[in-house]
Amino acid sequence: MRKRMIAGNWKMNKTYGEGVELAQGLADELKDGTGDVDVVVCPPAVDLKGVAEVIEQTQAPFGLGAQNVYYEESGAYTGETAPNMLEAVGADYCIIGHSERRGYFGETDEDVNKKAKVLMAHGIVPISCCGESLEVREAGKHVEFVVDQIKKDTEGLEITDPSKYVIAYEPIWAIGTGKTATADDAQEVIGAIRATLVEIFGKETADGIRILYGGSAKPNNVAGFLEKEDVDGALVGGASLKADSFAAMVKAAM
Ligand code: PGA
Repeated sequence: MRKRMIAGNWKMNKTYGEGVELAQGLADELKDGTGDVDVVVCPPAVDLKGVAEVIEQTQAPFGLGAQNVYYEESGAYTGETAPNMLEAVGADYCIIGHSERRGYFGETDEDVNKKAKVLMAHGIVPISCCGESLEVREAGKHVEFVVDQIKKDTEGLEITDPSKYVIAYEPIWAIGTGKTATADDAQEVIGAIRATLVEIFGKETADGIRILYGGSAKPNNVAGFLEKEDVDGALVGGASLKADSFAAMVKAAM
């Protein structure tokens, strides 16, 4: 049985102090626990340590994730963050292949695949993003496009514990636009992702991998997505920047 997951992607928002405050607010909102739901917050890299301290001090029921990593272990890669650096500040998860990184920073499926491997070697759970543009969707090629991303992103991965590899399907046209995919749109693609995972890893492993929906997910629409057979949670951008709205989404998933 897959545990639901609600993950917040703060993107490039919240200074150190603001991030600490948001984490404290969320710890307070969720002080009665999150039931069977895994909750993760992904602050900017420079906020990770501060949020880790809040989690520790308040015994908060959520995990910590980064938004990016580099796939080399160390060395002359100015501006990048190594996997053991994330590990050292207590990050349990890391988003990879977000469409903003693919679109603005040229991240490729090959990079995403390398990042997944290095994270897993360090015991950090990848939240590996995929999703099609509006153009691809309008051409009716979205399923094909995302299945191809999944094949490339998972190439050669050894998944021994399927709860430690997470996928997020985020149609690019629905991110930050207020345009949400319908729950049926999400199920169509996420169902196809699951079928592809069955082909690659076998049914038992594929059935254990969480696949989240992302793209204008909000307190008032998240329950509809979660009703769908293959949708195991949400990756939340805008609505994760306020403790009350993010906590409401966690509660809707409980
Ligand atoms: P959004 O972002 O919820 O603001 O649409 C989701 C994401 O990009 O992860």
